[in-house]
Amino acid sequence: MRKPLVAGNWKMNKTSAEARELVAAMLNPLREIAGVEKVLCPPSTSIPVIASALTGTDIGLGAQNMHWEEKGAFTGELAPNMVKEFCGYVIIGHSERRALFGETDEHVNRKLRAAMKAGLIPIVCVGETLDEYESGRTGEVVSRQIKLGFADVDSASASRIVVAYEPVWAIGTGKASSGENANGVVRQVIRRALSEAFNENVAQSIRVLYGGSVTASNASEFFSQPEIDGALVGGASLKPDEFVAIAKAASGR
Ligand code: PGA
Repeated sequence: MRKPLVAGNWKMNKTSAEARELVAAMLNPLREIAGVEKVLCPPSTSIPVIASALTGTDIGLGAQNMHWEEKGAFTGELAPNMVKEFCGYVIIGHSERRALFGETDEHVNRKLRAAMKAGLIPIVCVGETLDEYESGRTGEVVSRQIKLGFADVDSASASRIVVAYEPVWAIGTGKASSGENANGVVRQVIRRALSEAFNENVAQSIRVLYGGSVTASNASEFFSQPEIDGALVGGASLKPDEFVAIAKAASGR
């Protein structure tokens, strides 16, 4: 019922020439994988070239961030309709944006509502820090991120939203969560909070990805969990064979 989704977050890597090479190395094998929504999120400067490389394929394109305002004096930012010109998806509230660029749950909420209005598919990231994890505050932190981040979003279109559960301690550390732990957080915290924000039907229809040190070798541990509908992949999405293998593992879900 929930179609698996695998998204590659390239972060601040690759010039547009390098990005074109990277896409060329994964395009055909990715196209052969059925039953999975595949999405690439390159840096903004590569979005136009990747958009043309993906034309006519079933591979989606996403931005890594955007602003909530439609236009104006916001130096360095991209407006929702600028993203929509090329992309179907946008990552919102990645933990690096929260930790390094001061994004709050309120910013996430504004961006989420702007993305919905623009007709984009938002991939909203939530997750606890190591400190919060070790002090047993995962449930409290993640449900607050959802409660505040998802406020005043129309439940009629909310099924379109994608959530990425990304424990901060697992991102880029090589120390992924166990599949069982991530599944438990999604079931007990994320779907519950989504049900409170919308309703149970919507909570069951929203796709929830896992992110944090996903590789070709641990991907199926996540995809075999009933609550996990795919992955948001950072480091491994820059390696064509790895990313293709992860997408393949999701197709067997
Ligand atoms: P990672 O990053 O796969 O490199 O841990 C995941 C993410 O930040 O989305």
